[in-house]
Amino acid sequence: MTGATLRAAGPGDSPAVTDVYLGARREMRYLPVLHTDEETAEHFAGVVDRCRVELAERHGRVIGFAALHGSWLEHLNVHPDAQSEGVGSLLMTWAKEVLPKAIDLWVFQENVRARAFYAAHGFAIVRLTDGDNEERQPDAHMRWEAES
Ligand SMILES: CC(C)(COP(=O)(O)OP(=O)(O)OC[C@H]1O[C@@H](n2cnc3c(N)ncnc32)[C@H](O)[C@@H]1OP(=O)(O)O)[C@@H](O)C(=O)NCCC(=O)NCCS
Repeated sequence: MTGATLRAAGPGDSPAVTDVYLGARREMRYLPVLHTDEETAEHFAGVVDRCRVELAERHGRVIGFAALHGSWLEHLNVHPDAQSEGVGSLLMTWAKEVLPKAIDLWVFQENVRARAFYAAHGFAIVRLTDGDNEERQPDAHMRWEAES
């Protein structure tokens, strides 16, 4: 039991989405900080506008979110003080309901925990890159496909 509920995000939710993202990102100490918090907030206003974003809430507070665009899970983040309580799995279940055939995502190779999480949810590595991203950090394209 996570005690969390899900709902679709609207434009007014982008500050809460940004807070969750910044909290999760601060724990990823291997990543360079390339943007100010204000730039990140602007970016997530765009994400909420462009993507299908689902929020996980507990006691009225946003503690996690997932963002889908096309076949891609562009973002999945749970606030550090709510991780390992099943919230990420709840959002993954939602993502698989929206995209029941296949889901693609990118994950940093150093993000061992997220890679284990995705593997536990049936994702497999499609391709590794040596840093073909803004942060210039090796990453992995992972994909889940429904069993046929
Ligand atoms: C990766 C992340 C989204 C997972 O969310 P979460 O709420 O912590 O995940 P859950 O509580 O649902 O599951 C986490 C744990 O259960 C394990 N798990 C989940 N589902 C499982 C399953 N079906 N079978 C076996 N193990 C499972 C995971 O490996 C993980 O183990 P740990 O807590 O001992 O490390 C979250 O930790 C996070 O936001 N991390 C920081 C941001 C990030 O890395 N995002 C991904 C970017 S690509």
